[in-house]
Amino acid sequence: MSHWDKGSYEVTAEQIAPAAPVVADAVEPVSGQPALDLACGTGNEALILARRGAEVTGFDGAPRLLSVAEERLREEGFEAQWVQGDLAELPFADDSFEIVTSVFGLIFTGNAPRSAEEIARVLRPQGRLAFTSWVEDGLFKTMQDMSKAAVAESFGQATPEGADAPFAWGDEVAIRELFSEHGLMVQVEQRNLVIEEDSALGLNDRWFDLHPIWLTMKDAIGEDSYEKLREETLPIVEGYNEADDGSFRYTLKYLLSEGSPV
Ligand SMILES: C[S@@+](CC[C@H](N)C(=O)[O-])C[C@H]1O[C@@H](n2cnc3c(N)ncnc32)[C@H](O)[C@@H]1O
Repeated sequence: MSHWDKGSYEVTAEQIAPAAPVVADAVEPVSGQPALDLACGTGNEALILARRGAEVTGFDGAPRLLSVAEERLREEGFEAQWVQGDLAELPFADDSFEIVTSVFGLIFTGNAPRSAEEIARVLRPQGRLAFTSWVEDGLFKTMQDMSKAAVAESFGQATPEGADAPFAWGDEVAIRELFSEHGLMVQVEQRNLVIEEDSALGLNDRWFDLHPIWLTMKDAIGEDSYEKLREETLPIVEGYNEADDGSFRYTLKYLLSEGSPV
């Protein structure tokens, strides 16, 4: 089982669903074109691509999420290919896809250069690539920093020995360079995504109770540290709240990267 199968990623998938049509607009699928959605999760992007006529392959490391995605598309009468695997090794032949997409999924690869090379390999010469990544500031960055600090405190070290720095998916220049090394010209622009919840407490609790990444951290640091962290993050979430009626609203910045082989 992938740790992404823990809890209920579905809740987060609903919150980030508005990014899926943005990515589809960037690749402009034409009926019958083969399209690969990397790290497809519960199928937000796969569904939009299928509705627009593409022949969809959904790829993800988490078997349960793949099943959810398959069921969602089947309910609308779409048959797609569903493939489990790792973003660093794409089990597809060269030039297999006209379209490659990923909505906040490619950013989880453990090997960004290798994934970029693989994308360039499976994409056809006239193909289109589009994916999203978080801008590294604001609420998500603060929460990520706090969770990293909690894990480090729990294990008594700042960074695990031998760990490489993760690729800077929030850095436009780094993204362009990563893909240009593999013959892909990529353009990057910033977009916004509004997250809405019933309250700051609701959002904080949903992350701690349901999000696979947070639940995986719970296993690592233990119940007591996890509950302490939950208390510490609540005022942070509240501090980022843009709503003034007791509900929660936050405008997340993200990068939309789109490109083609040159
Ligand atoms: C934030 S979710 C995004 C899911 C989906 N694209 C969406 O828009 O909701 C990240 C996804 O990446 C997948 N994932 C993470 N690391 C992976 C890896 N190394 N190989 C394949 N899939 C991976 C997870 O299983 C999860 O579905």
